[in-house]
Amino acid sequence: FEFTPDNLAWAKGQITKYPEGRQASAVIALLWRAQEQEGWLTRPAIEYVSDMLDMAYMRALEVASFYFMFQLHPVGSVANIQICGTTSCMICGAEDLMAVCREKIAPNPHELSPDGRFSWEEVECLGACSNAPMAQIGKDYYEDLTAEKMGELIDALAAGEVPLPGPQNGRYASEPL
Ligand code: FES
Repeated sequence: FEFTPDNLAWAKGQITKYPEGRQASAVIALLWRAQEQEGWLTRPAIEYVSDMLDMAYMRALEVASFYFMFQLHPVGSVANIQICGTTSCMICGAEDLMAVCREKIAPNPHELSPDGRFSWEEVECLGACSNAPMAQIGKDYYEDLTAEKMGELIDALAAGEVPLPGPQNGRYASEPL
């Protein structure tokens, strides 16, 4: 793994934001950029970032494995569906959403669908508990979901559509950003 020239220049700029000897503070920014470049964080990418920041690989891996915004497995080329499985969402039906993903995408989290276009995983609270159950797809939140709505979302994404994010039960009118 290597950063593209543009990403390398950007990464060097990030590092200069921190005092001498504190370059490890840029680890989240650089891991994020590496993930954007590759789609997920491979071990060589994490090693590359840790070398660049003069920090131990294990320290960078600790950060990458702590935050679920970082993907340590390949993700679907169309969507990786992150279903919140924390208390409010679990009580309100997160398991039903996961059952749909098991059926439509792959039996287990972090597995790719047979065509490689989708993946799914369970994540911790995404801070939209009042609209549980919910899922994050890309940078968008889809809230007030039901199993039926989850299935419709996957079908729409598979058809190349971009479903309107926000509450899916008409709770609020929502507009794309
Ligand atoms: Fe699901 Fe908080 S419990 S968003």
